[in-house]
Amino acid sequence: MSRTQPSAAARSPAPATPRPSPQPAPDPEPYRVTAEFYDLLHRSRYRRKAQRELAALARSARAGILEVGAGTGIVTEVLAESTSVPVHAVEPARAMRTVLLSRWAGSSPMRRHVRVYPQPVQELRPVDPVDLMVCVNLVDGLAPPTRRLLWSRARALLRPGGLLVVDRTGAVPRRPKPLSAVVVGDTRYEVTVVAAPVEGSRRLRWTFRYTVTTAEGAVREEQESFDLWPVEEAEVRAEVASAGLAAGPPQPGLLVFRR
Ligand SMILES: C[S@@+](CC[C@H](N)C(=O)[O-])C[C@H]1O[C@@H](n2cnc3c(N)ncnc32)[C@H](O)[C@@H]1O
Repeated sequence: MSRTQPSAAARSPAPATPRPSPQPAPDPEPYRVTAEFYDLLHRSRYRRKAQRELAALARSARAGILEVGAGTGIVTEVLAESTSVPVHAVEPARAMRTVLLSRWAGSSPMRRHVRVYPQPVQELRPVDPVDLMVCVNLVDGLAPPTRRLLWSRARALLRPGGLLVVDRTGAVPRRPKPLSAVVVGDTRYEVTVVAAPVEGSRRLRWTFRYTVTTAEGAVREEQESFDLWPVEEAEVRAEVASAGLAAGPPQPGLLVFRR
């Protein structure tokens, strides 16, 4: 379970309770801690990347787009801005979905255009046919049987000729790595990440540590861990091929497959 615990301000006495362990187990309610900080710390980079890598593909969609693991909707928004076909956003974590749904509150065109599904992809009932399926920052987070099910869902949900796109994963941060920092008013928010093997398993436990600091010092430290199942690109290609999809047009930063 992730730990949520205010850290001692610079001048405060040491906290009475022990500091959280460096690698807390994943929270039974995933993204409970992370959702608060996700857009603030990741939106500008993820949005630029989605505009660069996905907007043109979304513009070519003629039937519909399905995004699996939409999170807070940073990528969904870029997809929806780039097309007039329906965009189906699948997001099972309530904390992330809260931000995702709130994103459309101020825009009735977007509300007509985007549909949000609260179940995990393995429980998703058939949606209208789609010709683009997008999985960004998702695949490592799925246990191998769920990941293989994702490929067979892609085969079932995509129209013939439709594309499945999966982003390429980056390097594993073996030491704490600062990812992003943003100032709001007089308060600085930052996130670092570190990954470590989970004993006796192929999983890696990624721990995100959020620090909130004012001029007086750290006012809050929170962390959340996620267990990921690293998978090589070759393995993804082989699994997707055995689900019945072919290699698609090469695209920088993405693995692309065609139904
Ligand atoms: C790291 S976030 C990425 C969110 C978004 N794609 C982005 O790049 O900003 C991964 C998301 O996948 C969702 N997810 C995890 N397992 C899933 C599943 N089985 N089906 C659908 N979504 C899932 C999580 O709830 C989470 O919001």
